[in-house]
Amino acid sequence: MADSQAAVKQGETAAPNKAPEAATSAPADGGTKCKNLEGAMGGMRDPSKTKEQEESDEEECDENELEDDDDDDDDDDDEEGFMGMLQNFLRTKLDLGGGGEGEKVLDEVSVEGVVKYIKSGKCKNIITMAGAGISTSAGIPDFRSPGTGLYCNLEKYNLPFPEAIFDIEFFKVNPKPFFVLAKDLYPGAFNPTPSHWFIRLLHEKGLLLRHYTQNIDTLEHVAGLPAEKVVEAHGTFRTSHCIGCQKEYTQDWLKEEIFKDLIPKCEECNNLVKPDIVFFREDLPAKFFELTQSDFPKCDLLLILGTSLTVQPFAMLINNVPPSCPRLLINREKAGSGDPMMGLLHGMLSSSGLALDSPRNIRDVALLGDCDQGCAKLADLLGWKDEYEKLIPCKAEKGEKAEE
Ligand code: APR
Repeated sequence: MADSQAAVKQGETAAPNKAPEAATSAPADGGTKCKNLEGAMGGMRDPSKTKEQEESDEEECDENELEDDDDDDDDDDDEEGFMGMLQNFLRTKLDLGGGGEGEKVLDEVSVEGVVKYIKSGKCKNIITMAGAGISTSAGIPDFRSPGTGLYCNLEKYNLPFPEAIFDIEFFKVNPKPFFVLAKDLYPGAFNPTPSHWFIRLLHEKGLLLRHYTQNIDTLEHVAGLPAEKVVEAHGTFRTSHCIGCQKEYTQDWLKEEIFKDLIPKCEECNNLVKPDIVFFREDLPAKFFELTQSDFPKCDLLLILGTSLTVQPFAMLINNVPPSCPRLLINREKAGSGDPMMGLLHGMLSSSGLALDSPRNIRDVALLGDCDQGCAKLADLLGWKDEYEKLIPCKAEKGEKAEE
């Protein structure tokens, strides 16, 4: 497990929406095999790396693979995994196994179809996958929206390239931009959005298997989701560690340093202290790898909210649900289905990524627009409107006042 985790670090795809293609045959473990796929298909690339860095990483990678060669068991596992992937590819993607692409679960491939499916009671294990788009209405900018995204608005942080702010090597040399941003976006200053409350409602209804988020704003916790229901794939501000001696620091300690405009330094060894959020080139939390393996095969509805699905390994999770599992994207624009040419290929060859534009699509639905409106529409169609509005503090207050 440790090896496979180490192999998958946070990184962006070389080009937006290339992620799902890279994950065509990605196994549920998201680990070692994922590393192989990256090599073979060039799916995941850290944009902040120079070619030389990438070559040196490849050498390191080769060394790791040589070390792996010493371990016969690992080899067998890898072979089995590879054969499994190949068989799976031939069976499900080329329809050679007779099983087709999976059973048709939705009567109608539409939002109404998804609602009907939820209402039927057959859907009991919903996974939500979220990104920055569920928090923009709270006042937290997303990363890539033209004109408003964080990456378009970074002069004040004085960065050589936008991703540097979350680059661990850059941070070690120049931590100031990150801590200036951390102060601007510090959790606590923002309230959950109606989208967060919708996810809470799914939990109240006993339908939420797990909420996977790329966000580090902790708003799902503020909305009352229990910690065991949440996987913060890109880490959290709740704890921090010294990057040298690993001494742990509390959120309060870190907050005090950040708000005094200090660069937090370890009291033991004077190294930098960094919140446990995942920077590019860093490992994702162990919980992410453990739970994705057990959760995704059980998923019977995947809700994808407010994410461009461009950052791996998070983005490839959409491929780890069973082939019949419906996937509903609620986002301002389509994501996760690749470019139009790949969309065509999806139709002919594979079911990787969202098949929104494929003639063979039997399960992927897009509800395009704002997440909050999309969630309100779902709640409405599901007949949950009153309960939903009672959960959202500002709406509940308005409702109470109106009753008075
Ligand atoms: N409603 C619906 N969609 C929205 C909204 C909204 N209110 N606001 C923004 N969006 C959409 C954007 O159009 C975009 O498609 O949400 C998506 C946000 O995409 P990104 O900015 O790329 O954010 P995300 O996918 O979360 O980024 C992933 O990138 O740099 C890293 O580690 C960082 O976790 C982050 C990761």
